[in-house]
Amino acid sequence: MANNNDTDQFKKVLSHAKEYGYVFQSSEIYDGLQAVYDYGQNGVELKKNIREYWWQAMTQLNQEIVGIDAAIFMHPTTWKASGHVDAFNDPLIDNKDSKKRYRADVLIEDYCEKYVQKAEKEVAKAAKRFGDDFDAVMYRETNPRVMGYLQKAKEPVERLARLLEAEDLAGVKALIEELEIKCPVSGSMNWTDVRQFNLMFGTKLGASADTATDLYLRPETAQGIFVNFLNVQKTGRMKIPFGIAQTGKAFRNEIVARQFIFRQREFEQMEMQYFVKPGTELEWFEVWKERRMAWHNSLGLGSENYRFHDHEKLAHYANAATDIEFKFPFGFKELEGIHSRTDFDLKAHEEHSGKKLQFFDHEENKNYVPYVIETSIGLDRMFLAIFSNSLQDETLEDGSSRTVLKLPAALAPVKAAILPLLKKDGLPEIAHEIINELKWSMNVLYDEKDAIGRRYRRADANGTPYCITIDHDTKDDHAVTVRDRDTMTQERIAIKDLKAYIEPKVQMSEWLKRI
Ligand code: GAP
Repeated sequence: MANNNDTDQFKKVLSHAKEYGYVFQSSEIYDGLQAVYDYGQNGVELKKNIREYWWQAMTQLNQEIVGIDAAIFMHPTTWKASGHVDAFNDPLIDNKDSKKRYRADVLIEDYCEKYVQKAEKEVAKAAKRFGDDFDAVMYRETNPRVMGYLQKAKEPVERLARLLEAEDLAGVKALIEELEIKCPVSGSMNWTDVRQFNLMFGTKLGASADTATDLYLRPETAQGIFVNFLNVQKTGRMKIPFGIAQTGKAFRNEIVARQFIFRQREFEQMEMQYFVKPGTELEWFEVWKERRMAWHNSLGLGSENYRFHDHEKLAHYANAATDIEFKFPFGFKELEGIHSRTDFDLKAHEEHSGKKLQFFDHEENKNYVPYVIETSIGLDRMFLAIFSNSLQDETLEDGSSRTVLKLPAALAPVKAAILPLLKKDGLPEIAHEIINELKWSMNVLYDEKDAIGRRYRRADANGTPYCITIDHDTKDDHAVTVRDRDTMTQERIAIKDLKAYIEPKVQMSEWLKRI
């Protein structure tokens, strides 16, 4: 549950994303399509850079991980085998007065989140009271009021997990009634029964109605990896442990689509399945938890903004699962899932296809179906995490303020704005020479409109890490002023040294070394 400041920050994120060409509502001229978004000229670059940062971290830094690009359409039996036809459902409930539809589990989780927020408020108050010596962990574990709130947050979630596990939908409804959860729109508790609703989008392949085959738009990219396991293993002569990575679109008919690009009907995933020897999967699970968190931390969004959330309810195919949660403007929410999926998927595809999906282990001299650790992150969610964390309002020393988008430089859509102080006296020509020098290794932007201060502000709001100003002295000293977006410090750099000065600061390879 977000407080007012968080809500304001979220509103700023939405309007800034639109104003600066990052994210637009899909088909906006037709009043938009709910929970579907388009990425604008800056958004597409940021998204591409995030995808690339993930891709290089997976496939370039790990010799035993390779990538694929499977089709979105897959044989329909894929989804029978994976369990999506039978069990990829959300429990839905309608309020009879407002006619609004909700996910029953989300209603209960939101109810619990309110108590978490109450507990955190108490902790924050105590931190102010006690000062530097304050031990927040100890306070959470010993203060009766905080413990009470946390218990109230924990217990319903645990009961919900048990009820969903037992497929007891009447029990879920009874829990909503017992907690006296009201419809946020009508304020009433006039609820329908809870029903399951499949999230896959169906479509048809083929020209005529009688011969057409029913297909699904893939709801996750992972299955494209499983069905190609043997192709990649054999043609790449891969030895266990090894991984297959993939990025691509996924589609889900989300009923409660909200929170901007956080939950969409068409979105992109970046998934990696790591195939390991049975019995070693829990060790690898820990390894991948650590590796993924190191990837996140390398971007500098602040380690305090991430936390692991171990699953109370394990899916039937998993023997360990955790989420990496991020502090979005509307609170800590799932950004990435790490799952130990056992041999469930490969075995299911063996059964449904009649083909063996096994690995011959020369050391053990036997065949086995590998176990799988999966890391799965939503590209759009990562975009939102980075964008919302980077958007800051700052009050400057002279009392003025600025809006700055402090994107990690390696991911910023434009690395440098090239600014001739005036539109004459040969300064634009020098600016274009600089562009011709830099454009081979980075995106740069030419801007000659308005006073230099306004151009700096525009570049700040756009997330551009460097401004390069060409002034009258440039003609004599062959140097330019380079302004740093975050510190606003300025340095005089010789034009011949510019590339060497900026490149290491914005190059992905340099940032990847921080992992
Ligand atoms: N193969 C495993 C899998 O798909 P998931 O938890 O359903 O697991 C993985 O999804 C990630 O995909 C999530 O952590 C989230 O980042 C992203 N994701 C899931 N549904 C989404 C949606 N409707 N909109 C945007 N991102 C979504």
